[in-house]
Amino acid sequence: MTTDTRRAHGLHKAAPAPLSFTDRLYALRDRLLGSQQFQRFSASFFLTRPIARRQAGALFDLCAGFVYSQILAACVDLDLFRRLRAEPQTGDKLARDLGIPGERLSRLLDGAVSLRLLSRRRGNRYGLGMLGAALVDNPGIAAMVQHHGMLYRDLANPVTLLRDRHGQTELSRFWGYAGAADAAALAADDVAAYSALMASSQSFIAADVLDAYRFDTHRCVMDVGGGEGAFIAAAAAKHPQLTFKVFDLPAVADRARTRLAALGDRVAVHGGSFVDDPLPRGADLITLVRVVHDHDDAVVRQLLRAAYDALPPGGKLLIAEPMAGAPGAGQVGAAYFGFYLMAMGSGRARTSAELTALLVAAGFTKPRVLTTHQPLLTGAIVAEKQVLSLG
Ligand SMILES: C[S@@+](CC[C@H](N)C(=O)[O-])C[C@H]1O[C@@H](n2cnc3c(N)ncnc32)[C@H](O)[C@@H]1O
Repeated sequence: MTTDTRRAHGLHKAAPAPLSFTDRLYALRDRLLGSQQFQRFSASFFLTRPIARRQAGALFDLCAGFVYSQILAACVDLDLFRRLRAEPQTGDKLARDLGIPGERLSRLLDGAVSLRLLSRRRGNRYGLGMLGAALVDNPGIAAMVQHHGMLYRDLANPVTLLRDRHGQTELSRFWGYAGAADAAALAADDVAAYSALMASSQSFIAADVLDAYRFDTHRCVMDVGGGEGAFIAAAAAKHPQLTFKVFDLPAVADRARTRLAALGDRVAVHGGSFVDDPLPRGADLITLVRVVHDHDDAVVRQLLRAAYDALPPGGKLLIAEPMAGAPGAGQVGAAYFGFYLMAMGSGRARTSAELTALLVAAGFTKPRVLTTHQPLLTGAIVAEKQVLSLG
């Protein structure tokens, strides 16, 4: 970790600062909130009761989060949402169809109702809930839910994960191909599962990114770390006048070639590693969609510099990925992606300020944070390669 990064994370060694007035106020608050007497008082007093209930609920949700996730996982594994999409069904029929004892299945069904995945319907039947209905036709969500089994096994002992920087995790093996010493030697099978998962979850992201930025002000877009081309396929459908390039590791680029074949000579697919190879030139917009957060600062600096070199003066770079601390993104950036990426073995969710600083350090100017519909899933920042001034 560089000195800058250590400082950004408050890990640099410095003499402990004396407690400030604010520190003392927090200490007082913490003592109050921790006192059982105060907790009993605030739960019973009519003015503080709603706050106390909210606090208790939030704390309980933190303890129970894994159980909620597993209820969702069971619904997905049993294909419950699709089964209930056509028509609501009784618990008895579902129990027969699924071969699960009725009393045990009702635990799942009632749990899923409480989580708004399912809802109760007349005649003792169950139908889709608000959240179940939102995910039923989105295979990307199901794929994401299912691959979380790996993440949860990696997180079974979170302190071990924190301590053991070089420990092997299931997730790091799942996408371990990206760190392969010889990218050219990767086989199709090495990259298939991860690339397919990324492509299936791209639909949430692409529409949002394409709405957040005026792609029609460009001529040629190059998606670096573009996977099997799902983002470019969406961009090509929305902007028929644009041409495209995709750059990814050779075995992944082969998948993009197949997926994007219908675009003919509107797209050129390049295999290579942005760690070892220069990026192809010719695009006036480079996109990095869910790529930067996978890498530690040293690789990101190298990647941004390579993108800068590949762009013409006035060309733009667009970073789109979930960002830590983004308004509207809740705890997802820092908590979820923080731990997910740690289990993957490299990278971190960065704040828009951290990304901006990295862009500026690579030579980019006019960094601008864009508004996205779902900051929870992706934020976006665009920056420009300076136009050369004459004289
Ligand atoms: C998280 S995936 C994102 C894929 C795609 N942009 C998306 O949003 O679906 C990161 C991508 O970066 C690619 N990648 C990782 N290291 C790379 C490298 N050194 N050179 C080129 N591509 C790389 C991976 O193969 C993968 O396709």
